[in-house]
Amino acid sequence: TDAFTVAIDGPAAAGKGTVSRAVAETLGFAHLDTGLLYRAVGARMLSGEDPVAAARTLDPAAFDEDRLRSDPVAQAASEIAVLPDVRAALVDFQRAFARRPGGAVLDGRDIGTVICPDAEAKLFVTASAECRAERRYRELRGKGAEVTPDGVLEDVRARDARDSGRAVAPLKPAEDAVTIDTTAMSIEEAVARAVAVVRSRR
Ligand code: C5P
Repeated sequence: TDAFTVAIDGPAAAGKGTVSRAVAETLGFAHLDTGLLYRAVGARMLSGEDPVAAARTLDPAAFDEDRLRSDPVAQAASEIAVLPDVRAALVDFQRAFARRPGGAVLDGRDIGTVICPDAEAKLFVTASAECRAERRYRELRGKGAEVTPDGVLEDVRARDARDSGRAVAPLKPAEDAVTIDTTAMSIEEAVARAVAVVRSRR
């Protein structure tokens, strides 16, 4: 039950979440969706709190995941994610999770580059913006959200630009990450590739 960290980064709606959950389940590892941390801070900013204070007093055990999955919260998350003090407040929790005995999968934007530069396995899961927007559109419609394909594509592009363009911990593949482009892949294919990469590092 040694520690073993799998870092999975990539842009919004590339399939990171699905791949991460499947890798964790297949290998019996714990999973942390680090986007939820930023979403929780974003949600608290939308209710009028100071984002840095919110990040310092976060309680991941009390997250209401459904509420955090909305699009306004996602946009708020990418806005507070540019603040160095917010990011710094979330580092210790993520690193402790990454080193828990038995193995851990963390997915986000800066896991392989900043949070866990020594992760045993690193993946960069990506897809074209159009493909990601279409997947996100279907997902949001499935939940009954009132969205349009163009609106979702615009939001995905805005979030990409903010996440890749920020000065602190911008979204980019780690030098030693294996990139999986899921644009033309089924979920099963993407998961099989990811599991194969992780197994090859064990
Ligand atoms: O992955 P998810 O879409 O839930 O992330 C929401 C936002 O949180 C992202 O757009 C990004 O700005 C921010 N984030 C981050 N670093 C992470 C995870 C998420 O900056 N490790």
